[in-house]
Amino acid sequence: MILVTGGTGLVGSHLLYHLCVENDKIRAIYRTKSSLEKVKKVFSYYTSDASLFDKIEWFKADITKVPVMILAFKGIKQVYHCAAFISFNPKDYREMRKVNIHGTAIIVNLAIDAKIDKFCFVSSIAAVGEAKNEEEMITEECEWNKELDNSGYSITKFGAEMEVWRASQEGVDVVIVNPGVILGSGFWTAGSGKLFSQVYNGFKYYTEGVTGFVGVKDVVQPMIKLMNADVKNERFILVAENKSFKDIFFTIASAFGKKRPSIATKPWQTAVFWRVAWLISKITGKAPLLSKYSARSAHAISKYSSKKIQKELGYKFEIVDNVIQKICEVYPKP
Ligand SMILES: NC(=O)c1ccc[n+]([C@@H]2O[C@H](COP(=O)([O-])OP(=O)(O)OC[C@H]3O[C@@H](n4cnc5c(N)ncnc54)[C@H](OP(=O)(O)O)[C@@H]3O)[C@@H](O)[C@H]2O)c1
Repeated sequence: MILVTGGTGLVGSHLLYHLCVENDKIRAIYRTKSSLEKVKKVFSYYTSDASLFDKIEWFKADITKVPVMILAFKGIKQVYHCAAFISFNPKDYREMRKVNIHGTAIIVNLAIDAKIDKFCFVSSIAAVGEAKNEEEMITEECEWNKELDNSGYSITKFGAEMEVWRASQEGVDVVIVNPGVILGSGFWTAGSGKLFSQVYNGFKYYTEGVTGFVGVKDVVQPMIKLMNADVKNERFILVAENKSFKDIFFTIASAFGKKRPSIATKPWQTAVFWRVAWLISKITGKAPLLSKYSARSAHAISKYSSKKIQKELGYKFEIVDNVIQKICEVYPKP
């Protein structure tokens, strides 16, 4: 039996579809019934065959609660751990530590106890170190540096990786993937899905920062391949291409047939904006519209190498322009 955490999220739902094509025994964690509708929608992008979705044994659990997670692990041989709390709001830091580090520690402990065959963890490029300069490619060997001013998200993803490496020391075979910004359909109000909604709704601003982007299919397929291969106790960056936010915004606008964002935002302008947003959030108690770390990454130039996964699996990534085109085709236009 395969256990998938975060099955109702972007990665987890697309992963579940691909797992269901090949496997019959899949258990997936969910928290609310309404989130299952999102997974059904994702399945509908791939197939009209409802029987695939019906293969999933849904298990209601919060990954931070040990008693219920003990029950979730009954009969489990493989774990895909995709659940996480993603936020750049400083207010969410404690909760993020609880879900991302403590939650992963619980899953790791249960995986060790159950003597499972293999464990796949979805980490992030946020848990990989930085290059010495903007030209150098960041690889899996770049050590994460705790001395830097890291975001809470980055700290918790690194902390979660440490828990997963502990599993490898305790006899569980593990693989970790470190995706860049994941582009995929079905989740339009959070994460990268927001980029599509914003451009569709006429967002005017762009920045010239560069980072790694990857389609969701090119995250979940390597995960499954790594779980079925002999490789163990390694991590792999999953980035199809390094692109600027400007390029991404322009490509989305063209795919929608919408006007391109036209105002280039300078680093000093975003620096002013996140401070104002922070002040407003202090007064209103609402989440800031832009955080210090989101502002910083909007301008940072970070380029990632996927050579390791290409060498290990001979994997070929779909180019990001094609990924964007396909996502825009299924975007729910009013
Ligand atoms: N999206 C990206 O661009 C990106 C890039 C790099 C790495 N990643 C990593 O990829 C993984 C999946 O991300 P995603 O984009 O799929 O995130 P997502 O769409 O926000 O999904 C997060 C999932 O985690 C579940 N979850 C959160 N807290 C939980 C808890 N306490 N107990 C049980 N389930 C819980 C959510 O369940 P509910 O539906 O109940 O909320 C949801 O299924 C994460 O580890 C993330 O760090 C994402």
